Amino acid sequence: MVKKENTELEIKINQLKKKRDAVILVHNYQLPEVQDIADYRGDSLELSRVAAKTDAKVIVFCGVYFMAETASILSPEKLVIMPDIHAGCPMANMLNAQELIKLKQKHPNAAVVGYVNTSAEVKAELDYCCTSTNAVAVVNALKDKEEIIFVPDKYLADYVSKKTGRKLITWNGFCPTHIRILPEDVKREKKFHPFAKIMVHPECLSSVVAMADAVLSTSQMAKFAKESEAKEFIVGTESGLIYRLKQDNPAKEFYPASERAVCPNMKRTTQEKVLWALEELKEEVKVPDQIRIRAKKAIDRMLEII
Ligand code: 13P
Ligand code: SF4
Repeated sequence: MVKKENTELEIKINQLKKKRDAVILVHNYQLPEVQDIADYRGDSLELSRVAAKTDAKVIVFCGVYFMAETASILSPEKLVIMPDIHAGCPMANMLNAQELIKLKQKHPNAAVVGYVNTSAEVKAELDYCCTSTNAVAVVNALKDKEEIIFVPDKYLADYVSKKTGRKLITWNGFCPTHIRILPEDVKREKKFHPFAKIMVHPECLSSVVAMADAVLSTSQMAKFAKESEAKEFIVGTESGLIYRLKQDNPAKEFYPASERAVCPNMKRTTQEKVLWALEELKEEVKVPDQIRIRAKKAIDRMLEII
């Protein structure tokens, strides 16, 4: 892939980034213009790992709120800023700490596993955090636990339960973007592209997951597409990933399972907002210590497993 010339705006961002000693972390669903200025582009797990290790003083998080909170939990001494503080995750907002505390009271002996798509307050109530990359491995690591609570995504829980053979106590959460991908969408695309491999995210409807050749996190999809012999892929996740897939694999074809799978929150961040964030060093995302220390335990336990 030939690297295109930096625009004036990109040059300004790069200069200011150096001056501020900042690193720009970008989720795979961000707009192409934001992916173009990334120091690191990745899925939730990869970006958490980078946030935990970076030497930079400032982390500019281009993603959604829970991701920036996770960076702040792992790197409290860093200034974590979001170019658009209103970029939230509706799934993360479907469960609050009080609701989880009540669920835990009903199942006092259960191990509590929570998806990274949760608030810091909810993470503080977890035993283990997990991402789409390692959810199955985390539950498999809990062989000695009789009961497991798995929140908030009911579709991820269903996938994990089928893969591990464990019955899970779940919550009625879901991703409003991924549930827009319907089995008939996948069927239609497969009819048009019979040789294409079907990759889907585990947040998809169970009926969609059942049609997949591979169920993967966003960065796992990037790896799968690169390594596979296949030349065509049907992509069952948020549309932003297609940009990276095409960039990495110019000789391969990628078809979105549905054009409707767009996460509006992931599209709130723009290059201009990144520049303003670097100029003003705002908006800061900071998790107070009494929540942070408890939430970090659940994330650390996850990072130890995989
Ligand atoms: P990944 O960790 O697979 O990138 O997923 C994050 C997310 O929000 C999916 O909707
Ligand atoms: Fe949340 Fe879904 Fe958007 Fe991911 S795609 S950030 S789970 S709403």
